[in-house]
Amino acid sequence: MVSNPPSPSAAAGGVTGSSAGGWSDRFEQGLHPAIERFNASIGFDITLLQEDLDGSVAHARMLGACGVIEPDEAERLVEGLETIRAEAAAGSFQPGLADEDVHFAVERRLIELLGPLGKKLHTGRSRNDQVGTDLRLWLRRRIDDLDRALLRFEAALLAQAEQHAETLIPGYTHLQRAQPVCLAHHLLAYIAMAERDRQRLADVRRRVDLCPLGAAALAGTPVPIDRRHTAAALGFADLYDNSLDAVSDRDFAVEFMAAASLVMVHLSRLSEEVILWASEEFGFISLSDRCATGSSLMPQKKNPDVPELVRGKSGRVFGHLMGLLTMIKGLPLAYNKDFQEDKEALFDGVRTCLDCLEAMAILFEEGLQFRPERLERAVESDFSNATDVADYLVGRGVPFREAYQLVGGLVKDCLRRGVLLRQLSLEEWQALHPAFEEDIHAAIAPRQVVAARRSEGGTGFEQVRRQLQRARLLLQESSGSAPDATG
Ligand code: ARG
Repeated sequence: MVSNPPSPSAAAGGVTGSSAGGWSDRFEQGLHPAIERFNASIGFDITLLQEDLDGSVAHARMLGACGVIEPDEAERLVEGLETIRAEAAAGSFQPGLADEDVHFAVERRLIELLGPLGKKLHTGRSRNDQVGTDLRLWLRRRIDDLDRALLRFEAALLAQAEQHAETLIPGYTHLQRAQPVCLAHHLLAYIAMAERDRQRLADVRRRVDLCPLGAAALAGTPVPIDRRHTAAALGFADLYDNSLDAVSDRDFAVEFMAAASLVMVHLSRLSEEVILWASEEFGFISLSDRCATGSSLMPQKKNPDVPELVRGKSGRVFGHLMGLLTMIKGLPLAYNKDFQEDKEALFDGVRTCLDCLEAMAILFEEGLQFRPERLERAVESDFSNATDVADYLVGRGVPFREAYQLVGGLVKDCLRRGVLLRQLSLEEWQALHPAFEEDIHAAIAPRQVVAARRSEGGTGFEQVRRQLQRARLLLQESSGSAPDATG
């Protein structure tokens, strides 16, 4: 977590808080230095600087348009705010601990720049509706970033799937060999999950896209503001109806973290598979040097650190979800300082999710290669075609349960003798059941076993080609319509 910067006044041994902090003359003494540190959020909410400036620019313009301040005053406020933006870009805007948070830091600097006029900016506004606005503006942008990151990840999976539309891989249940599947089918399952993640985030975004500005501290304001003016200037889809709800709603943060948690669940499950596949025991993939690490001790090692880290980092995001729920659950209306705790959770949750999506995209773009020869050998050397023997008999009028029992006995017998089903002679098949004919050998070859699963959404090659086609179209359309980086 980010720590707060030192307080210039505390460093100089002076009294902090009070006028420096920005609250009223009611206060005679400054904060205890440890409490000042404890109370401050500037160490992390500086992340919201751009959004805080955007919100203040919109607020200043609205005050001017509504006649609360003179139009030229509004323009000078906007210029002052843009000066701060330029100073931040140049690295010369460096708030200290005495500023407490990003909102006070901006206001303090504005007053330094503009004198008494700077003191008019906060008219008809509170930090409570201000922070809610900043946070929603910030999260809306980050959801758009995540959407782009998900699309890149899906494109990386799709490129591998296209290459392996004919490659087979063992399919598992209970991590026991079950039935062979097409490798593209396996990868397409993760594309389907990522698509649901995009849909969930888009749905959360609709509720992030509400403007709380104008709710002021909790009850609204007697100042003749125009909430629709600021909301429109900031590109919000709508306003909060109720001022108490506006300043105390953090449902959107919880919903976001739940959606982000599912992104991480999906990435973590895929990571687990990649880690297994890279092991000597599976040997289904090899890792390229650019995405794997060595051991400081064992010269032969090549470790799958990327998926391991992704799997490990998922816990942080789930933790943030629980942290947010717990932080909110006992809060009376309306604003409570507890809400300050939402920020580090959101910042870290977003960062973690974006980093993991990028790392997994790179892993599938250039970090791993499937090993078709190993995969081929795997699907040929097991009993994962046993169901197809039973299905063969079903096709010749044998009731399924009877066929199932028969084949079970056959597998037991083969295991005892150390042979595979494909090694049985026609005589052996017919000894088991007279319905077997020469075509049994072709029927249980892995490629035929996969091809036969033609049911809609199954692993049959034709079905998989349709899925690939749909995924390709969807990605083309989505990439065309994705909001740009400036959002
Ligand atoms: N830093 C505060 C936060 O993150 C800003 C709002 C403070 N409001 C207040 N009434 N103390 O929530």
